[in-house]
Amino acid sequence: MTPQDTAKGGPHAEPAPDGQPAPPQNAEAPKVETPNAQSTGPATGRFEARSPGAPADATIVVPVRSVVLFPEIVFPITIGRPLSVEAAQAAVREQRQILVVLQKDPSVDAPGPDDLYQVGTVANILRYVTAPDGAHHVICQGVQRFRITEFVPGLPYLAAKGLHLPEPTGGGSEIEARFLLLREQALEVLQLLPQAPAELRMAIEGTQSPAALADLAAAYMDIQPAEKQEILETVDLVARLDKVSHHLAHRLEVLKLSAEIGKQTRASIDERQREVLLREQMAAIQKQLGEGDGNAAEMEELQKAIDAAGMPEEVEKQAKKELHRLQRMPDASAEYGMIRTYLDWLIELPWKDPAPLAIDIAEARKILDADHFGLEKIKSRIIEYLAVRKLAPEGKAPILCFVGPPGVGKTSLGQSIARALDRPFVRASLGGVHDEAEIRGHRRTYIGALPGNIIQSIRKAGSRGAVMMLDEIDKMGAGIQGDPASAMLEVLDPEQNNSFRDNYLGVPFDLSKVVFIATANVMDTIPGPLRDRMEIISLAGYTAEEKGQIAARYLVRRQLEANGLKPEQASVSPEAVADIIKNYTREAGVRSLEREIGRVLRHAAVQIAEGKAEKVDIGPEQVVEILGAPRFENEVRMRTSSPGVATGLAWTPVGGDILFIEAARTPGEGKLILTGQLGEVMKESAQAALSLVKSQAASELGVDPNLFEKSDIHIHVPAGATPKDGPSAGVAMYMALASLVTGRKIRSDTAMTGEISLRGLVLPVGGIKEKVIAAAAAGLTRVMLPARNKRDFDDIPDEVRQQLEFVWLERVEEAVAAALEAKVEAPASTPDDTPADALA
Ligand SMILES: Nc1ncnc2c1ncn2[C@@H]1O[C@H](COP(=O)(O)OP(=O)(O)OP(=O)(O)O)[C@@H](O)[C@H]1O
Ligand SMILES: [Mg+2]
Repeated sequence: MTPQDTAKGGPHAEPAPDGQPAPPQNAEAPKVETPNAQSTGPATGRFEARSPGAPADATIVVPVRSVVLFPEIVFPITIGRPLSVEAAQAAVREQRQILVVLQKDPSVDAPGPDDLYQVGTVANILRYVTAPDGAHHVICQGVQRFRITEFVPGLPYLAAKGLHLPEPTGGGSEIEARFLLLREQALEVLQLLPQAPAELRMAIEGTQSPAALADLAAAYMDIQPAEKQEILETVDLVARLDKVSHHLAHRLEVLKLSAEIGKQTRASIDERQREVLLREQMAAIQKQLGEGDGNAAEMEELQKAIDAAGMPEEVEKQAKKELHRLQRMPDASAEYGMIRTYLDWLIELPWKDPAPLAIDIAEARKILDADHFGLEKIKSRIIEYLAVRKLAPEGKAPILCFVGPPGVGKTSLGQSIARALDRPFVRASLGGVHDEAEIRGHRRTYIGALPGNIIQSIRKAGSRGAVMMLDEIDKMGAGIQGDPASAMLEVLDPEQNNSFRDNYLGVPFDLSKVVFIATANVMDTIPGPLRDRMEIISLAGYTAEEKGQIAARYLVRRQLEANGLKPEQASVSPEAVADIIKNYTREAGVRSLEREIGRVLRHAAVQIAEGKAEKVDIGPEQVVEILGAPRFENEVRMRTSSPGVATGLAWTPVGGDILFIEAARTPGEGKLILTGQLGEVMKESAQAALSLVKSQAASELGVDPNLFEKSDIHIHVPAGATPKDGPSAGVAMYMALASLVTGRKIRSDTAMTGEISLRGLVLPVGGIKEKVIAAAAAGLTRVMLPARNKRDFDDIPDEVRQQLEFVWLERVEEAVAAALEAKVEAPASTPDDTPADALA
């Protein structure tokens, strides 16, 4: 070692010996003796060379007062002394490493070679930062131990030559054992330091190299710089591990003791300082990785958003905890994204109490009337419901459930209710939900986890007082992943839903102010306990007359608008609408009707757009022109044009419908063949009908009972609307068979429904209103119904009653008398689709 006085930091600004042009001394620049202080600009700033560089085989030395840098450790070093600034800038300029060396006495301001320890650490400069206050920081990463052998004179900073000290390699059991012990100690210490960042623990757990572990522990240990220096100088691995272990053991003891006596004050102050230091360091690392920038602003924003969200205390605590975690996390990590998304959910959910319901009953009535034609009973029920809500806002209002076929206005009634309550409207579709998690969300530990349907809808609505329509609650099914119905129960239960727990959120959310309305097509697939919670309101479907009114008042206007037409440009006459209803749609609601009206009006729109007409009036003729031949006309007459076919009335999830029951006889040995859309109960009905026909063959029907022995009977229900399985097709089956065996056609204007007993009694069935409406819609003029269903007569709309003749049946014989035509000779040929009794 050759001590050089030049190394004491004096100004040495001679021109470079290699003739490199060095800028002249700048008189106004140096407030200190560093000649190029003014050029230290931004973090990435370049530093102009003003002096000869250190030789290539030497290393630029940065003396430090209290830091011992270890290999592999990233550490920010604050430099203030001109000597060090000069050295660091030279290193940045020349893209060289620096040697960080501890000085023996921290109070020495301009240390010379004698003032420094001989072993330091070579480091890469990751970044050079000039803070706004003028302080300089070098973030450096230790690379390797280095022993100084001599100093290079003649430079404005210290530079030295020496030996790189490679880390000892090779393990062996004694190293292995010490390594494990050390790790255990380090982790134990960390456990006693609650403020220590999780990353440090992770680093310790992840380090596989004994040397690196010893250095890591030493670097973060709370011991004197001189003690650290001693560890740095200990290249021998066994000795180094022992030293670190010794310090840790001591530290551990102190920590335990202080924990025990509860005198942690000093320790925690230490630790807080430590934490501050570590935090700085982490920020430095993050910055280095390009991650830190803008983060602080983002965190602040999040903090503000959390404060403003109006969360309940428990939730706010949780949010702040997560925010705290987020702050310590590199923002490129996957977990950062997850926490960020979670926080966004917490922040964006409407926690605040909704404004109290201000219900104006008269106004609500107006809104309901304005949006919907007819439905008087249902509207009154809704008004009652609103009145109760108004009078007892805190009371447990029942949950309305609209049940009915598609297109009868369930969803749109819900929207009207929202309008009347002046609350946002939101739909949550439950159709096809099989998994509890779809309602209640997935735990956050799942990748891509999200809250369930309910919470998602709440966020969409933006209010805790929204009207939430639970659509298709009848189409929810239990799957292997738990039963969504039980989660729904919790959602709807007024006892529980003020603290609904979504798995993803993990904190309770108050759903008690949400106005739930459910919809379903059928009642019997709604899980029982759910049904009990709800007040069922049935919408049966509309008569042709009502549909006409709805079209005139709402649908035509809406479709005009949808197709860009003004009322003075096109019109659809009531007759045209009636024809569309009768001949082009078969439905309980008005969806297809609206669609067909739309088609007709689009045609008009084209004509007007092409300039072919100023105004298009659509009458019945135009309807045929545009929509083609009637789709449903005369179907009944055609189908029932030969014996063996009965027109039944069915109840289906989409409303009432007519259905044809066909019977045929083939040579055989008395078998009954059943095909088509038949459920189990319907099959039994078919059997009962056959037995009844057999038993009555001679007595009532006047046919040879032996006929059945030589033939098979085939009953077929063609595909069409899918009827709900049940016994109500009994009469129609009986009639189809009776017609078949007698060869007498069934009157084509007559439809029928009713269960039969083996003794020939006609028993009452359900769905009379829907079925009768469907019969009228299909153009039939007579219906045969069980006498015991007379009690349902009042429900049937007036126009339908007027259109139909009702035959009330006590026994099947009455049906035979009322609906079988007199026998005519079988025609030579019969339509293909009608199984004729060619063998009779
Ligand atoms: N009584 C009515 N008055 C006016 N418009 C009606 C009436 N009933 C239904 N509509 C209209 O018919 C259309 C279909 O109704 P909506 O969507 O409410 O049916 P839905 O019962 O919810 O059917 P789905 O079971 O298929 O969901 C809507 O545009 C609605 O406004
Ligand atoms: Mg709907």
